[in-house]
Amino acid sequence: KRQQHERIGQRILAETRAFGKLILFGEHFVVYKVPALVGAVAAYTDCECERLCEPGLVVVDNRPAVPDYKVTKAAEADAALRLVFDHFGLDLSKEGFKLTFGGDLCCASGIGASAAQVVSLARALSQALKRPMSENEINAAGYEGEKGYHGTPSGIDNTAATFGGILKFQRTDGEPIFERKAIVTRMLIVYASTGITSSTTAVVGDIQAKKESDPLWFEALLQKYIALVQKAELALNAGVIAEIGQLMNENHELCQQLTVSCPELDRLVEAARLAGAAGAKMSGTGRGGLMLALTPTPEIQDAVADALKAAGAPQVWKTSFA
Ligand code: MEV
Repeated sequence: KRQQHERIGQRILAETRAFGKLILFGEHFVVYKVPALVGAVAAYTDCECERLCEPGLVVVDNRPAVPDYKVTKAAEADAALRLVFDHFGLDLSKEGFKLTFGGDLCCASGIGASAAQVVSLARALSQALKRPMSENEINAAGYEGEKGYHGTPSGIDNTAATFGGILKFQRTDGEPIFERKAIVTRMLIVYASTGITSSTTAVVGDIQAKKESDPLWFEALLQKYIALVQKAELALNAGVIAEIGQLMNENHELCQQLTVSCPELDRLVEAARLAGAAGAKMSGTGRGGLMLALTPTPEIQDAVADALKAAGAPQVWKTSFA
């Protein structure tokens, strides 16, 4: 009986999985409705949901995280979870729930941990309430939660968290457009945290302000980015690692010009290139957070991971899109 209970418990948890993500091309630009390319990582967050007799929300957060992440994000995370409950029409002043978050996704700014958390919550609520939902409905619930982290999420993070794989994603005035990309060659990735937890709300807001104060500057960068992502999609379709890497380098330069990189990210990107990466760039919000490197062989992947540790990255991970 006990064994059966555990099996059922595990199955339910597995069904609440939501993945982390790495933006390959287009962080920030994607907010302005141009296409971006994103890869979901295999690491995931899951969520167990229990009803309580008392109203309110109890959260047990067992997710691994870089130091500071959970404290810095606490208020935004609380807002995000409550927005998902609102979306389900649940009033936490009348009903009570206990959520236990787990999984192997290490929370760090840039990896889409917030999106993975709200998408796993949407999956858990759909099960707890016995309300079957389509993947698009789960994604939409996750998008509502993402608004707790910043006012104008593009939706790229929750879409990668829900669907996995490598996606081409574009925000529009209506529903987002996205498609799964076939992965024609194994892509070995190293990603590293700067150890700095950045606020997506603050950085996206600052770029919006800069765009408004200098529209021509922003438009010129946006046009360069659009030309770049078109080439990146072709290189990805053809699976040419050297070219994808070179274009990642160019995307990093555009991030620098957009002022979303920082010395800590630049140092890690440089270290990865020197150690043999085909290309390297910051990924996600920036001004702290994460960088990623594309490495042509497992040996170079190891060498880049070592070089990033030697360059002071507090956490380094290896993954692949296959
Ligand atoms: C954050 O992972 C990516 C940003 O482009 C914000 C967004 O797309 O909502 C910085």
